Amino acid sequence: MLREWRRFHVLATMAVLLVAIAWCVQFTARASPGSVPGPPTSPLAAFEGDLPVADSSAWTSRRAPLLRSAFVERIYGAAAPVASARAEYRTIDSSALERTAQLQLLTLHLDAPGGATPFQVALLTPNAGTRFPLLVLPVFCGLDSDVDARLPSPAWRPMRCRTSLGRALTQLSHGDAILQPPLRAMIARGYAVAVFYAGDIAPDDPVLFSEAPIHPSADAQESGAIAAWASLYLSVFEALHTNPRIAPSLIAVWGHSRYGKAALLAAGVDPRIGAVIANQSGTFGATLSSATRGETTAQIVRRFPHWFPARLAASPRGRYSDELDQHLLLALLAPRPILLGNAGLDRWSDPAASFSAARSASEVYALFGRIGLAQDDMRLPQMSAEIAFYVRPGGHGVRSSDWDRALDFLDIHFNAAPSRASAASRGV
Ligand code: GCU
Repeated sequence: MLREWRRFHVLATMAVLLVAIAWCVQFTARASPGSVPGPPTSPLAAFEGDLPVADSSAWTSRRAPLLRSAFVERIYGAAAPVASARAEYRTIDSSALERTAQLQLLTLHLDAPGGATPFQVALLTPNAGTRFPLLVLPVFCGLDSDVDARLPSPAWRPMRCRTSLGRALTQLSHGDAILQPPLRAMIARGYAVAVFYAGDIAPDDPVLFSEAPIHPSADAQESGAIAAWASLYLSVFEALHTNPRIAPSLIAVWGHSRYGKAALLAAGVDPRIGAVIANQSGTFGATLSSATRGETTAQIVRRFPHWFPARLAASPRGRYSDELDQHLLLALLAPRPILLGNAGLDRWSDPAASFSAARSASEVYALFGRIGLAQDDMRLPQMSAEIAFYVRPGGHGVRSSDWDRALDFLDIHFNAAPSRASAASRGV
């Protein structure tokens, strides 16, 4: 009995040690993101019969629309606002977050293929000031508990986040700062924040997604979940860019991983989005599909068929071609600011192949007289460049340092934006 007890004790201690080591590695280890793969075909080169592009007007009027249709038709399916511009506002608390912010609940009416559907968005605006830059972000696990408690349940809190074990596992797989965005810091730095829970409308599950109101009708099957999430970002944009308290040209979308893919797509199809922060967006995000040493296009389509239109899921390399690679999605964002966050241990999203994509997309920024990526080293971000790229230690997930970087980046780019400067000088 004593021997068995000892054996159990030793095994339990070893298990705890292993978990502790895995935790430390995941959170602190530095790993080389690998060497940067060679450049893909220049975004300015001839593309499927379209002549080479030599200036920004040819890019904007000819090439960009062609690429937008190619991404929609061959990879993601259609992404567009699905909300009518009309939003109902309900003020929940005009002195939320220790009196620093106003909390409102917006109900957007989605004109979804499955019928009219209400979509709820929480909007926090600082109490000091009048015209704010806005950060639009999907949450993984609810919001700050003070805010959460005031919002209708369970829209903000998916099942997995209702138990401490579920929350701990989410933190382990998606980072210690995934549960709740740092709302107080955002408000203190002068940002309004619009938050939604994508699973409420477009659940991240093949069966639930196929029954979701936003899913296209069975005969069309023209869209997948990434495009549906992009449509939610765009719907929030559509409803809020006319709000007098929001600076319409200073609306940024933030997304981690699968939502990073959706955020890039949203800004790729809609030039009105002011900036994008895509954290570890990986395959079919910022990472070159042709060069990735991480997740391949065939793997992602097999494992997450509902993320893509049925036709791509049925034939991973069918309509998708090597010519249409992800540097072209980044190029569609030119000349807008993009922050690409990466983690050294996150080989699955292949940061080096994302760096190569960003470098190549910079050729389009140059057409607009901008630099794009201004760093040679993946680890030394030039935050004032239009494309900034960093690799932090540790693994996949959102850490508080990722949020700090995101806000620093926005401070630099949105403070410098002419409309904010002139709005400030007009006292609005
Ligand atoms: C999986 C998937 C990735 C995705 C990630 C995430 O790892 O393979 O493509 O980015 O989940 O969303 O966390």
